[in-house]
Amino acid sequence: MTTDLTSQAKAILAANDRGGYTVPTHGLYPFQWNWDSAFVAMGFATYDIDRALSELEHLARGQWADGMIPHIIFHAPSDTYFPGPEIWGTRHRVPTSGITQPPVFAIALKFIADRADPSFAPRIRALFAVVDAYHRWFAKARDPHGAGLVATLHNWETGRDNSPEWDIPFARVPQTTTTVIRRRDTGHVDASMRPTDADYRRYIHLVDLYRDLGWSPAAMFAAAPFRIADIGTNAILLAAEEALLALAPDHGLAGSGDAIRTRITRLSQGLAALWNADKAWFLSRDLIAGEAIPVRTSAGLLPLLTGVPNAARVGHLQAEVAAHLASAAFGIASTLPGESGFEPKRYWRGPVWAVMNWMIAEGLARHRCTGLAERIRKDTVAAIGRQGFGEYFDPLTGESLGGEAFSWTAATYLLMSEALA
Ligand code: GLC
Repeated sequence: MTTDLTSQAKAILAANDRGGYTVPTHGLYPFQWNWDSAFVAMGFATYDIDRALSELEHLARGQWADGMIPHIIFHAPSDTYFPGPEIWGTRHRVPTSGITQPPVFAIALKFIADRADPSFAPRIRALFAVVDAYHRWFAKARDPHGAGLVATLHNWETGRDNSPEWDIPFARVPQTTTTVIRRRDTGHVDASMRPTDADYRRYIHLVDLYRDLGWSPAAMFAAAPFRIADIGTNAILLAAEEALLALAPDHGLAGSGDAIRTRITRLSQGLAALWNADKAWFLSRDLIAGEAIPVRTSAGLLPLLTGVPNAARVGHLQAEVAAHLASAAFGIASTLPGESGFEPKRYWRGPVWAVMNWMIAEGLARHRCTGLAERIRKDTVAAIGRQGFGEYFDPLTGESLGGEAFSWTAATYLLMSEALA
């Protein structure tokens, strides 16, 4: 059974391979996506280090001169996706989007480096330089005042596209667009599972605005009507900085360690301040209103990937996770049931994502909650075993939803089944 699913997972990665990089799924997402590829690289690393490194090397081809790694790299044309490269209007030699995504890259690089033999060292060193520049870009472009938190300027940058967290900041984003919207996603997947048209107009309003600013980081930061400290991005960035620091002695550039340590100290303080006593949860923050966004999501568990939560908070989060799993046996709902805005089938408003489960399990394991981490891995593997490698799962029924034959779901299956073996 397990072996059969393992070969199915590998077959999905092979089918979604476009020549050294992987698309998230055929049709719905026909290009290379930033954080998807980081998870996919780890999945490949369970059986093919060369291919794992190639996934990250293809992401690196999309890196901008200032260090930013975009959320989509348009290596080859496709007409099944909107908005394509002509709407983004960026000027990189490989066409890309103009915004980023949660920086899982360094976490993946460390995962690969830990299992690679010495012959791969030059490639790992080259990728260290890539990701070091990426993290420096985050600090400079997205935390220009040294506040200790990086800002996210588009909901797509969070990777959790239509989480109810963004409803409040989106209320100030107009629905007007200069681009004519031709949605393609609802031709692949039922509209009831996707973001609404009103939300989509706001997403494109932001793209139009930033493109008209020439994708200048400083101009975007100043003009953004949507500027938030996403709990997910900040927690992942801190975990990624810790991974980079661990890589530095063997693979880093001389002197990079001190700069990474400085960024870690600053980010740790910022992340700790996102704990909200009223909700007893780590929350995103609306940087324009200067207020916490009072919605509990699975991303609020990602600080467990870092050393930030103290023992009392770890104990509290652990108890909350255990209670959640008693009523939903497929891992952690993206928006917790009971929160306002929860919808079990609509994209990031409730469904369970395998990659979120993987990160939460890693975070729990880091804080020695090994039983709970194992429970999440088992539940995720079982859900995939029953329903296949879809995009996400209904948190109440475990039903597989969204796109099919998804690369990062396949990669997560490989990672989790290996950890359970
Ligand atoms: C959706 C998800 C995003 C993911 C992309 C490709 O946009 O919200 O997180 O990277 O699909 O799978």
